[in-house]
Amino acid sequence: EGSFRPLVLGIETSCDDTGAAVVDDHGNVVGDALNSQTKTHVELGGIIPPIARDLHQKNIDSVVTQALELAIVNLQDLDAIAVTVKPGLALSLRVGLQHAKMLAQQSGLPLIPIHHMEAHALTTRMIERVDFPFLVLLASGGHCLLAVARDVSDFLLLGTGLDDSPGDAFDKTARQLKLKNLPECEGLSGGAAIELLAKGGNPRAFPFPQVMTQLPDCHFSFSGVKFAAKKLIEAEEARLNTSPSSVVSSAPDICASFQYAVLHHIARRLQRAFLFCELTNLLPKDKTLVVSGGVASNSYLRSGLQQVCEMNSCNLVCPPPHLCTDNGIMIAWNGMEKLLQGTGCTHDLETLDIEPR
Ligand code: KG4
Ligand code: ZN
Repeated sequence: EGSFRPLVLGIETSCDDTGAAVVDDHGNVVGDALNSQTKTHVELGGIIPPIARDLHQKNIDSVVTQALELAIVNLQDLDAIAVTVKPGLALSLRVGLQHAKMLAQQSGLPLIPIHHMEAHALTTRMIERVDFPFLVLLASGGHCLLAVARDVSDFLLLGTGLDDSPGDAFDKTARQLKLKNLPECEGLSGGAAIELLAKGGNPRAFPFPQVMTQLPDCHFSFSGVKFAAKKLIEAEEARLNTSPSSVVSSAPDICASFQYAVLHHIARRLQRAFLFCELTNLLPKDKTLVVSGGVASNSYLRSGLQQVCEMNSCNLVCPPPHLCTDNGIMIAWNGMEKLLQGTGCTHDLETLDIEPR
């Protein structure tokens, strides 16, 4: 016997995670499967799109099958299939959409095209009540943005990243530091490795240049911090006579100072967003900020942002880390919200395409 609740299958392949999950309209995850490519990409020193595509292709069928098996449902028990179509790597997005189209063809189910960032922004609503409108900050390997979420499919963008993503700054800095050579960083993303080392370092040890302080907007830039970290690491390696394969002994201080610089930049942009929303009455008195994305799973950043929120009488909501990173759950839930609103479903497989940018 199938469930009486509506069920949506979500498929995510926009970057380097192959994810599939089935959720119901109460936000229960009835089946969830994920194949992360992080390990491969860390070993190769970055995401190489054709390799990401090949891994998606290799794993998508078993990931979807596993999610359905865990949910103990067949395709016929579902109400729709949600799939990420933007933004992301073209080669990666295509694998997910093609697979979703094949399943839709097999089953006659409608497809729901999903915007990856919108899905990140709304994931938290599956576990707790957050009413529109609310402010949302996404900081991940692909993006950084501040937006007002006004409805399921209505977002006002306040600011975006102008250059490198914060995740990229974390990943490149971790690589420059060769943190993957440390046993305690085994299997961790660059960001998680830096967070770990920073716990034993002094955030004031090294000054970082402050970024964009003169620009009165909510955009982000992380290339300056990334470049400053690169120079600092080179200088420290020379000063401390570090051998080419080892991690410089001042790495904890470098990580802590770098992390502090990233927090400082994000906190300033957030403060501007609060000011703007106040002037334009975009948010209710009882304000909420939702913070999500892989970088936002950093607990040092979270506690810093908590302070900014307190100064602005804002309630900070952070989805649990496993819901902050890329997975099929967030796509399935976004599909469910659209399904419940009666929007977003399509049977027109022909015209449905990816929009990488
Ligand atoms: O949202 P996400 O899982 O995926 C994409 O955006 O594709 O974000 C991944 C990024 C990576 O750059 C990773 O280094 C970073 O999030 N990240 C972190 C932490 N955990 C993951 N950055 C800072 N601190 C962390 N604890
Ligand atoms: Zn993401």
